[in-house]
Amino acid sequence: MTNQLQKITLNDGNHIPAIGFGTYKLKGNEGVAAIESAINLGYRLLDSAYNYENEGTVGEAVRRTTVPREELMITSKLPGRYHRYNDAIVTIEESLYRAKLGYYDIYLIHWPNPNRDLYVEAWQALIEAKKRGLVRSIGVCNFLPEHLKRLQDETGVLPAINQIELHPFFNQEEQREWHKEHGIVTESWSPLARANDVFENEVLKNIATKYDKSISQIILRWHYQLGAVAIPKSATPNRQLENISLFDFSLDDQDMKTIASLSRQDGRLKNQDPAVYEEF
Ligand SMILES: NC(=O)c1ccc[n+]([C@@H]2O[C@H](COP(=O)([O-])OP(=O)(O)OC[C@H]3O[C@@H](n4cnc5c(N)ncnc54)[C@H](OP(=O)(O)O)[C@@H]3O)[C@@H](O)[C@H]2O)c1
Repeated sequence: MTNQLQKITLNDGNHIPAIGFGTYKLKGNEGVAAIESAINLGYRLLDSAYNYENEGTVGEAVRRTTVPREELMITSKLPGRYHRYNDAIVTIEESLYRAKLGYYDIYLIHWPNPNRDLYVEAWQALIEAKKRGLVRSIGVCNFLPEHLKRLQDETGVLPAINQIELHPFFNQEEQREWHKEHGIVTESWSPLARANDVFENEVLKNIATKYDKSISQIILRWHYQLGAVAIPKSATPNRQLENISLFDFSLDDQDMKTIASLSRQDGRLKNQDPAVYEEF
């Protein structure tokens, strides 16, 4: 096995790397340096969002590296306050202006905000943005199966990606199964549970010792073997490298099950249940 970045095919025929880089809270000059470091270490899939106020930071890092633009997959997300069709189109254009990019590789609806009931309209705008060449692949975050089903019923187009909270304490088994049955790629946000409790966990410590890997590598390898694209964030170059060095070992079935058994019904980090949680 080599340590090369593996690729996953989306339902629209495009390909994404099996692991990406999260950028929440990476802003300004330090943020640019951290993202530039991640690209130089081998990350090719970058996550960001209009609401992280760092689309400019990501764009600047992309311009500073020597890696050609076409080798990078850059993501941003539509905020809840701009779900109306015309607002959504303008927001995507504004995202591009901020990053100084000609196109986004991936654009996602950030939250469904079902109580406002505008996410189908937002999805129609993403479909149109793809037609116009503003974005190459379109998807969503935090959509439950009932929301995804509505997109399919009302537009005939299913997202290529659903980015959801996923870590050993909340493993999203049913949701992942639904994605698999419908050809949607799962992306894992907060894949390291924001470093809360994972590094002290005895079960994970024992598995890490067994494979002579770090706990972070064990968790990220678990995501990879689940078929989920993790997007760990780190401002620290040696951790960035550690987190992407996953393709030279493999967890056995028993260890996969043991990690899955750490999941809890109430395992969400901040109780952000998409059925009721709203973000604008
Ligand atoms: N769609 C959504 O609704 C949504 C929601 C939340 C997040 N996201 C995306 O998902 C990305 C990742 O999630 P996240 O940032 O919440 O959390 P995360 O990636 O699970 O954890 C980040 C934390 O882990 C630490 N860390 C990273 N690698 C480490 C290592 N090898 N050893 C020890 N500590 C390590 C980082 O510290 P240092 O930085 O100090 O190294 C940081 O404190 C975000 O950045 C964002 O792009 C999306």
